[in-house]
Amino acid sequence: MHEFKFKNNLLYCEDVQVRDLVKKYNTPLYVYSYNTFIGHFLKLKAAFQQVNPLICYSVKANSNLAILKALVARGAGLDIVSGGELFRAIRAGCDPAKIVYASVGKTDVEIEEAIRKGIKFFNVESLPELENINRIAGRLRKITNVAIRINPDVAPKTHHYITTGKLTNKFGIDFATARKVLLLGRKLRNVNISGIHIHIGSQITDGAPFLEAIKKVIAFISQLKLKGVNIEYLNIGGGLGIIYQNEKPQTADEFARKVLPVLKDSGLKIIMEPGRFIIGSAAILAVKVLYIKKTPLKNFMIVDAGMNDLIRPALYDAHHEIVPLKTPSSKKTMKVDVVGPICESGDFLAKARNLPVTKEGDFLAVMCTGAYGFSMASNYNSRRRPAEVLIKGDQVKLIRKRESQEDLIRNEIW
Ligand code: LLP
Repeated sequence: MHEFKFKNNLLYCEDVQVRDLVKKYNTPLYVYSYNTFIGHFLKLKAAFQQVNPLICYSVKANSNLAILKALVARGAGLDIVSGGELFRAIRAGCDPAKIVYASVGKTDVEIEEAIRKGIKFFNVESLPELENINRIAGRLRKITNVAIRINPDVAPKTHHYITTGKLTNKFGIDFATARKVLLLGRKLRNVNISGIHIHIGSQITDGAPFLEAIKKVIAFISQLKLKGVNIEYLNIGGGLGIIYQNEKPQTADEFARKVLPVLKDSGLKIIMEPGRFIIGSAAILAVKVLYIKKTPLKNFMIVDAGMNDLIRPALYDAHHEIVPLKTPSSKKTMKVDVVGPICESGDFLAKARNLPVTKEGDFLAVMCTGAYGFSMASNYNSRRRPAEVLIKGDQVKLIRKRESQEDLIRNEIW
């Protein structure tokens, strides 16, 4: 569900015509729909209402302060993975008691800052990390809450780069080791191990692997109880898939119907960390067609956004629908590779795609680019990162200026 719709053959974001935005702000331009991402957040919240979860939006999916602030204002917590994301979370006004912090490689400085701020949980990924957090908390004379991230060894169907819950991945701790860590951890005086965390991967469209992983950890938590280890919180991670092309992902309600019975029975307090489900379909990347280049073998549509602006197609072969901002009157199509200006053969937004016949100077929308779009953008080829605008009804707010040439060299010393 999203609020990008055609009216009289023109693409609108909520009540605003996207063509007006590109004229004012130029391209490439990320355009976000407030009502779409807030709607997703509220849907998830309503679906899980019976367990009243703490929904910690995953900052990595899209970390623009205006987006974080909007979600925080609606009661969201935040899931962070770095000191930089902690800084953003605090700037966005998030109560530290609603921040959970994952990452296999937290540094001492990052750990200290998070303890000082009083975050809700560190999601701990190894024994040495647990010992380090305990040492730093001891130095600060604090006791900090930790959740152990379990690697439940389930295999969701998704791109191999974004599965995280298999034993071959670097994430989390296997059950046998986790048992030892929990028993050892009890002796550590400055950590309070009161949660278990799982996150099995991203863009998972089927509820079965979630249920399998949740059942496994709940059984594990019951065994721990017999040994005198009391776990209060279960963080079920993120990973809910969305529709990019023809996927049939579970809805929030279907997901809740599947996992709620076991969650309720467990009596545990529930945390979740969705990123893509909330923000994924809430944005488009508007681009301009620069050239149509015909070669003996195929045709290229060269646009003004590249892999530095949106890396998902290049990195994961990800599919993003591409539509003209104005539907042409003719139904004729052309088969093209949509490519950017970057000096890499991997710089493409779509391959062998049938698009309506498009001319140089036309504008296109690359759909569903809210998650891992801008947040993975870079300055490769010394390209300035795009501007971002947030639409709410008929209101337009510039939430990030296009970078300037000066921004590109700001930290360089010569
Ligand atoms: N929690 C943890 C511990 C995570 O590692 C992630 C994502 C999330 C929550 C949020 O997952 P989501 O609900 O968004 O699926 N760049 C890739 C996705 C990488 C996901 C990394 N971890 C992409 O563009 O598909």
